[in-house]
Amino acid sequence: MKLLEGRLIAVSNRLPVEVKFRAGHPRLSQSAGGLATALDSIWRNSHGVWVGWAGSVDSETAANLLQKASRGRSYSFKGVPLTRDEISKFYSGFANEIIWPLFHDMPSRCDFDPEFWEVYQRVNRRFAQAAAEMASSKDLIWAHDYHLMLMGKYLREVGSTAHTGFFLHIPFPAPDMFEKLPWRRQILRALLQYQLLGFQTDRDRYNFLSCLERIVPEATSVRDDPYNTVALEGLRTRVGTFPISIAFEEFANHAASQEVEAGANQFRHELNNKFLVLGVDRMDYTKGIPERLKAFRILLRRYPELRHRVTLLQVVVPSREEIPNYKELRREVELLVSQINGEFTESGWVPIHYMHRNLTRKQLLTYYRAADIAIITSLKDGMNLVAKEFCAAQVDECGVVVISEFTGAAAELQHGALVVNPNDLAGIAEAIYRACVMPVEEKRARMRLLRDIIRTHNVQSWADAFLNAALTTESAIPAKAHEGSQRDIPLIASASSQDQRIA
Ligand code: ADP
Ligand code: F6P
Repeated sequence: MKLLEGRLIAVSNRLPVEVKFRAGHPRLSQSAGGLATALDSIWRNSHGVWVGWAGSVDSETAANLLQKASRGRSYSFKGVPLTRDEISKFYSGFANEIIWPLFHDMPSRCDFDPEFWEVYQRVNRRFAQAAAEMASSKDLIWAHDYHLMLMGKYLREVGSTAHTGFFLHIPFPAPDMFEKLPWRRQILRALLQYQLLGFQTDRDRYNFLSCLERIVPEATSVRDDPYNTVALEGLRTRVGTFPISIAFEEFANHAASQEVEAGANQFRHELNNKFLVLGVDRMDYTKGIPERLKAFRILLRRYPELRHRVTLLQVVVPSREEIPNYKELRREVELLVSQINGEFTESGWVPIHYMHRNLTRKQLLTYYRAADIAIITSLKDGMNLVAKEFCAAQVDECGVVVISEFTGAAAELQHGALVVNPNDLAGIAEAIYRACVMPVEEKRARMRLLRDIIRTHNVQSWADAFLNAALTTESAIPAKAHEGSQRDIPLIASASSQDQRIA
């Protein structure tokens, strides 16, 4: 394991803390979402700087509050200011109305406005400058997620000599989808300016390599187990799979605490010990929340004996509310909840309990512990950390996970979980039924397996694997090897270590 000599400089659009106005005053609040949860836990014992957008406040207020937030942490925050127009065109526009839907295979939700692209480039350059200003050649600049796909290129342009790596937290689409992007070639070529590219699953990595094959034919790829190495114009980029995870012991220990156990017992008591099905998501159309609600309705229609005995608790954290698609989703979800409750509620039993707010870690763990089933029905999801958090919280090993096959987590958890197609509503209903009647020995065997996987593949091992790959990457190609890589050899998925041409 190679150690970083310098500092870690993490860069992400969102910091784990955000400045928001409450009662007219700027205040720090916790960010929700997988990136913030995962990175905040690995960062706790690291030294370095986390660069990101701090929220809609002026730079001076942001700097003061971020300095306050840095107290008691081993690292500091550096804010990157964004104007209202940039937030609208870079974050809401390019990132969340183009890349987010396209990379989740939902092109009809995209708005390919060329102005979004202009602002995306400008903001990526600004993030690169902010990171480069503080990085030496011994440091590693680790950029995160689809907001910052061009930053590697701008880091080179401003002359940064730091090591560089990029991790994509969301899926990478297949060529038929990616090709719809008007700026497809610029984005792929910019990604190849990073020294290391990390993806959540092998599927995402191979999709990326297949896109290169079609769109950047001048690049060549060598299989270099467990990575691929792509060469382009004298530069070399290592490409690997690094499934992100959670701080397993931290979640498990907190879930085992007396306060969480007491809270879970109390909640179950209040529900009259109904069988509890739990959904926890950001309010996002990729999470398949309407599909899950409709599947729950099918369950109650098909198995009347479950009425009065099963309750669905659906917790959603508000997300990207300025984007029209997200506003519509909220209306759709709330209408479905009220329709289903209207159809089935009887004295002493409400089938769906619905919460639309941010929860504390303790509250979240209380619901995880109280639940009998976690249900994850994402239509597409880079990983889905909720599934892993739920397993970590199952200290009595009794919960069952029902999970969509289109999540990154399903690749790791498929042998212990019940895997469903989120478009197959009747299939989801059957999986919930199966979980309801599953013998306790089977539940325990499955949950033990899931917990073993997540305990071993935790967020620290994810970060270590990425850092080790970044620090052992040679980015410049020796002249001879560069000439050699032009050979005409077939592509990608074979596990052998032969040279492979992307062309
Ligand atoms: P995504 O990154 O797309 O939001 P993940 O499932 O990977 O999806 O991560 C979601 C993260 O947000 C998890 O760490 C989860 O605990 C957290 N979270 C989800 N809902 C809430 C909520 N209502 N309150 C607080 N945190 C939440
Ligand atoms: O996991 C994908 C992701 O976009 C993360 O980058 C982010 O932390 C999370 O979802 C929440 O999204 P946003 O930062 O847009 O609120």
